[in-house]
Amino acid sequence: MNESTLPPSSRRQFIKSTGQIAAASALAGVTIPYVHAAGSDQLQIALVGCGGRGTGAAGNAMSQSGPPKLVAMADVFQHRLDGSFNTLKKQFKDQVDVSDDRKFIGFDAYQKAMDCLKKGDIAIFTTPLAFRWVHFKYAIEKGLNVFMEKPLTADGPTSRRMLKLADEASAKKLKVGVGLMSRHSKALQELHKRVQDGEIGDITLMRGYRMQGPIGSAFSTAWPGQPNELLWQISRFHSFLWLSGGGFSDFNIHHIDHLCWMKNAWPVRAQGIGGRHYRNSPDGKPYVDQNFDSYSVEYTFEDGTKLYMDGRGMTGALPIYSSYAHGTKGMAIVSKANDCGRPSSTFRSQSPRSESLIWKSKDNKDDVDDPYFNEWETLIEAIRNDKPYNEVPRGIAASVTTSMGRMAAHTAQEITYDEFLNSTHEYSPNTDKLTMDSPSPLPAGPDGKYPMPEPGVKKREY
Ligand SMILES: NC(=O)c1ccc[n+]([C@@H]2O[C@H](COP(=O)([O-])OP(=O)(O)OC[C@H]3O[C@@H](n4cnc5c(N)ncnc54)[C@H](O)[C@@H]3O)[C@@H](O)[C@H]2O)c1
Repeated sequence: MNESTLPPSSRRQFIKSTGQIAAASALAGVTIPYVHAAGSDQLQIALVGCGGRGTGAAGNAMSQSGPPKLVAMADVFQHRLDGSFNTLKKQFKDQVDVSDDRKFIGFDAYQKAMDCLKKGDIAIFTTPLAFRWVHFKYAIEKGLNVFMEKPLTADGPTSRRMLKLADEASAKKLKVGVGLMSRHSKALQELHKRVQDGEIGDITLMRGYRMQGPIGSAFSTAWPGQPNELLWQISRFHSFLWLSGGGFSDFNIHHIDHLCWMKNAWPVRAQGIGGRHYRNSPDGKPYVDQNFDSYSVEYTFEDGTKLYMDGRGMTGALPIYSSYAHGTKGMAIVSKANDCGRPSSTFRSQSPRSESLIWKSKDNKDDVDDPYFNEWETLIEAIRNDKPYNEVPRGIAASVTTSMGRMAAHTAQEITYDEFLNSTHEYSPNTDKLTMDSPSPLPAGPDGKYPMPEPGVKKREY
């Protein structure tokens, strides 16, 4: 029994075990007509970046009808690749057809894994974002379709590069999905339609909150000396702006993306505040990473509408993880909890009072609507039916919007969308040349610390 024929509860269990919120799709067993350009019925997949999300994305891919096969894997750490392989093999059995000679380790592993595919197959990019443009460029050369995780970029030069690459991909009729899965939530799709139809009037204010305890690898104490500094930074990528855009970009992009979608626009400028209140770990060691622990960014749209995004990683502080849109006739709960959690709802009032409820989507317990599954269903349908499909321009808009807010808070300046997109500071100019022995593009100072933003003092983030 392969994974696509497993009962929904088993699929849910798989996704849970790989760290993703999920439920199964009712369409899991439906066969879609297959017009894969390469002339074979079997879509093959190479996974580049075999961590939590990579394992989840490969599972989402193999849960589609067809079903696709995983044939190659690439990582810079053997233990990450092995862990991912074992998890996927246990669940997907023969769909995981990755012999030892198709498991690759190193900074060139992505090329070797993609070399195992034929034109029209799919490469999954789930490394930290610094490597996105490098991997995408090679996939386009090889004629491969791509699924890549968010965020896509952390600086202006790579954002412009990715937009060019996106044009090249579209010219070659390649299909590209981006892991901003909110847009594939059926609940949010219905909410979006209702908002466009005027249910809450014209949007005037939006609010996103991701406030919780310290998460991911955002806060780091000093490099312990091994593995080498480059590999250690990669294993703690949320700590470093060159790798991830830091906690602000990595954690807040989903709310920023889906709120901008509700407005059908991207903000033109941002200003914000932020700071690092706690400088030592609970066991008293100094933190060395580049993040603030609190951010509040005010985005402004062309028509004056505001979007406020608050992010906090702090033990003991009030946790809020949800998003809202307010209009001239009422309000909407966009994400009730987490990145895009249901139920979404609309109200005739400016606060969510039950007596003014207009509409509420189904709850997780009443329905299955897994945006992580849905985003793959849409991508594979586009591949099989050769429909134009490229989510990169939108993924870049969301990444640039998120980064300009982060930069505004880090510099204490107003930053416009165009200024950020056209900025010249590339955080890791030679990412394509890194090897296992390379020094990190961001070496620690003599005190073991990495350059921090200094709002009001430094014009650059660091
Ligand atoms: N859409 C979502 O909800 C969601 C959820 C989690 C993570 N993500 C995104 O997915 C990406 C990965 O996050 P994660 O949580 O899986 O991290 P992770 O650390 O668990 O996995 C990343 C993997 O990539 C490997 N890697 C790093 N550089 C590499 C390179 N140059 N070549 C090959 N392999 C390399 C790492 O060794 C690691 O195994 C991030 O961009 C993150 O923002 C998205």
